[in-house]
Amino acid sequence: MSTVIRNGTIVTADLTYRADVRIEGGIITEIGPDLAGDEVLDATGCYVMPGGIDPHTHLEMPFMGTYSSDDFESGTRAALAGGTTMVVDFALPAPGQGLMDALAMWHNKSGRANCDYSYHMAITWWGEQVFDEMQAVVDQGITSFKHFMAYKGALMVNDDELYASFRRCADLGALAMVHAENGDVVAELSARLLAEGNRGPEAHAYSRPPQVEGEATNRAIMIADMAGVPLYVVHTSCEEAHEAIRRARMQGKRVWGEPLIQHLTLDESEYFHPDWDHAARRVMSPPFRNRQHQDSLWAGLQSGSLSVVATDHCAFTTEQKRFGVGDFTKIPNGTGGLEDRMPMLWTQGVNTGRLTPNEFVAVTSTNIAKILNCYPKKGAVLVGADADLVVWDPEKTKVISAGAQQSAIDYNVFEGKEVKGLPRFTLSRGKVAVADGEIRTEEGHGQFVAREPRPAVNRALSAWKELTAPRAVERSGIPATGV
Ligand code: URP
Ligand code: ZN
Ligand code: ZN
Ligand code: ZN
Repeated sequence: MSTVIRNGTIVTADLTYRADVRIEGGIITEIGPDLAGDEVLDATGCYVMPGGIDPHTHLEMPFMGTYSSDDFESGTRAALAGGTTMVVDFALPAPGQGLMDALAMWHNKSGRANCDYSYHMAITWWGEQVFDEMQAVVDQGITSFKHFMAYKGALMVNDDELYASFRRCADLGALAMVHAENGDVVAELSARLLAEGNRGPEAHAYSRPPQVEGEATNRAIMIADMAGVPLYVVHTSCEEAHEAIRRARMQGKRVWGEPLIQHLTLDESEYFHPDWDHAARRVMSPPFRNRQHQDSLWAGLQSGSLSVVATDHCAFTTEQKRFGVGDFTKIPNGTGGLEDRMPMLWTQGVNTGRLTPNEFVAVTSTNIAKILNCYPKKGAVLVGADADLVVWDPEKTKVISAGAQQSAIDYNVFEGKEVKGLPRFTLSRGKVAVADGEIRTEEGHGQFVAREPRPAVNRALSAWKELTAPRAVERSGIPATGV
């Protein structure tokens, strides 16, 4: 059984050309003119692109006294509906819980996935067991470790723990990742705001100003540099953090920044909405920022100082958000976006001329596939690559509405936004999961993507570190000690 995508224009991170694509056994087996196959998908007027990869999701995540409401089934269904064919979720050990134990829990949840997936492992506490199990985690194909510099008293780790874990990542050939906000200062600002009677969702934004993100980003970059490990900064939301990443990259450091589609397209005025629910539904960390920061993020994607657009999909219902009525610190942090990332970025990025279609592919798929060392299995339209593809219709429009979404929650932070540019077909390893708006996903079709450690950038970094390491000076005459 073969499937052929006919009459489309292939758009990859570096090429645009007319060709058909043949798929057999879930793999791309031929690219060329006038191909024939058992099943034919008409791509006339469409772009054939690598399916999106969202490297930042929290499906069924235990957090702030509850669980995020999209699980691997609804979350990956939402992903496919919007042209995303792979998600990378965070396995999150509870404080004191072993990494392999957390990994088993995540494997248990992800069995229902409709598309392929991988994990990052979170380092939420530090000790000998964590140090030891990091090797086992890498052996299981999970080669990226996330650290929270915020959420004091819960997920946060301190600088000594960061450094120890980053060193371990360097030794294992893994990638270090951070949620960069100064958790100590956020905790102090939050307590003060509450004491002063600032209890609504707008105070969430006041408690996490851009400076706390900028400081933590600079600190993480310094610690990664000392440890000799590449660093990936998740949800970069402001100029201060972007500036730190930009400077580090110009200094030759291996640092990547990840803006979210929410931060690119929604601003802080959402928190001043008179409706409590409206504002609380948009509470996430870092919070939405003003126009100046949004312009900085767009410029970063254009110039290459920022590399990946993700969602941090972490969806809570209105009922869950209401845990925080009267105390903004209890509003579960997180917003959805899996279904909307690609259409929103195409609409506000490509249709405005801020991004080329090739840059769109780079920041939604190819760059992260390379960073996470699963390219060209993922993120490519090449013979031998997985047929995770999206046939993108640049003329197709819709108005985003919670009533029509796949996500399990009862609202959508992009409600009412018109998008132009949507999938005609989404294919997960060759299986048509979405056809002209019809959802044909198959629960459990998704497979775990194991990743190899020591990608080229780690090897380069460790070679340079070794070459420039401090060395004791060999001396002939050593003075006698004492007097
Ligand atoms: O508010 C957010 N971002 N919630 C999800 C957890 C995290 O910090 O990424
Ligand atoms: Zn985070
Ligand atoms: Zn997150
Ligand atoms: Zn299947």
